[in-house]
Amino acid sequence: METCTLNNQDDGVVRLLQISDTHLFAGSDRDLLGIATAESFQAVLDAITELPQPYDVVLATGDLSQDHSADSYQRFARMASAALPKPIHWLPGNHDHRVLMQNELLAAGIRPEMRLVSEHWQVILLDSQVYGTPHGWLSHLQLEQLEAALQQHPEKHALICLHHHTFPIGSIWLDQHDLKNANDFLAILARYPRVKAVLCGHVHQEYDQYHQGIRFLTSPSTCIQFKPLSVDFSLDGMSPGWRYLQLYPDGRIATQVWRLEPGRFVPDLQSTGY
Ligand SMILES: [Fe+2]
Repeated sequence: METCTLNNQDDGVVRLLQISDTHLFAGSDRDLLGIATAESFQAVLDAITELPQPYDVVLATGDLSQDHSADSYQRFARMASAALPKPIHWLPGNHDHRVLMQNELLAAGIRPEMRLVSEHWQVILLDSQVYGTPHGWLSHLQLEQLEAALQQHPEKHALICLHHHTFPIGSIWLDQHDLKNANDFLAILARYPRVKAVLCGHVHQEYDQYHQGIRFLTSPSTCIQFKPLSVDFSLDGMSPGWRYLQLYPDGRIATQVWRLEPGRFVPDLQSTGY
């Protein structure tokens, strides 16, 4: 797995921005269930720019495109690079086209999943995509690379990022599309006590729970939000958002979800799927 140095600030804290599930189209005015995804993404970028919070790196945790077009990835690269003057790394989601994504984003200097290593932390980005299906699976190679990274730096705290959620979040329709080999993943994590958190996209909602000492986090989408605790597909009226994380030298994590002001982007709440 390719490794890249992650520079932290003088205080030793690594500061991350997570943006997820932008679901962009080739056309800038296309909407997903009533929200123009380029417009809501731009509003999120504008809001991030207005905040005084410093950050060292941006993690884009999948479903960056909705229509699998090269143009949609070019749009992501253009918009994100113009607004966020820090390294951006991505991993694929179930809606992404891995090859197109890699070609278009790399051409813009936005790099794929890899390991980011700082003085006290490593951030490991994994590919859980199974092309053509909404659920996730970590391949033998991905699991091997994860374990090798954890073995190489057992003294560093670790944050693991992937698109799919590891545990059911209480929405029956969404939980069918979780990480199907979660037990293999968890067995590796259990061997490395410095693994502090697992960070995902995919579920378009905020979630924050501990399991055997590891914090499992999910985050809002920059467009539509899924309603928590739903049996069937259901949209939420919550605003688009993003997550900010601070990784401290002693292993603590401070994190907060930010959202746009209420009522600015409201989806078609009667939608029954997409
Ligand atoms: Fe998504």
